[in-house]
Amino acid sequence: MSAEKRQKSSGNGVPDGMTASVLNVNGEAYPVVFPTHHTLLEVLREECNLTGTKHGCELGECGACAVLVDGQPVLSCLQITTDVIGKSIETVEGLQVDNDLHPLQEAFADLGAAQCGYCTPGILMVAEALLQQDAEPDDDQITEALSGNICRCTGYKRIIEAVKWAAAKKRGDDWRPADELFSGHEIPQ
Ligand code: FES
Ligand code: FES
Repeated sequence: MSAEKRQKSSGNGVPDGMTASVLNVNGEAYPVVFPTHHTLLEVLREECNLTGTKHGCELGECGACAVLVDGQPVLSCLQITTDVIGKSIETVEGLQVDNDLHPLQEAFADLGAAQCGYCTPGILMVAEALLQQDAEPDDDQITEALSGNICRCTGYKRIIEAVKWAAAKKRGDDWRPADELFSGHEIPQ
């Protein structure tokens, strides 16, 4: 990390062991001051007040904390924040534009692919990275992409179908999941 990116105590008012900088999150500048050893998960939640990114295992095993850094999925619980200063960080809060849900958010909601929802922000961000690379992923590609994201509620079938549905929506294709998958949920027209 370059010296100009990290400010230390030497006369600038930032105590030893703290870093003052600006993070680029969802296209906005977030001035932050944080303990230099803190992870991106901690800084997003505690300094940026972006609590959509979830705190799960903190061991890199559940995927609940996934965000995108320069378009690539990153487990924010394992990512030291000082290493992403100057990079583009995307969190689940950036998916919705004004009142318009992202196609992934629409599909997950309409299909019941989010239940307790704790895993959902991480899954949405990993799925978004996949859809940016591949407009029409198949079941195996989606399963592989989401292999680091654990969901305790849904059984994954609806998650995979929701990602395919969102991909279809983004392509302008009228493909949709089978009606029986909407059991318990109103079938959108
Ligand atoms: S909280 Fe980061 S992988 Fe579980
Ligand atoms: S919806 Fe509950 S953990 Fe996935």
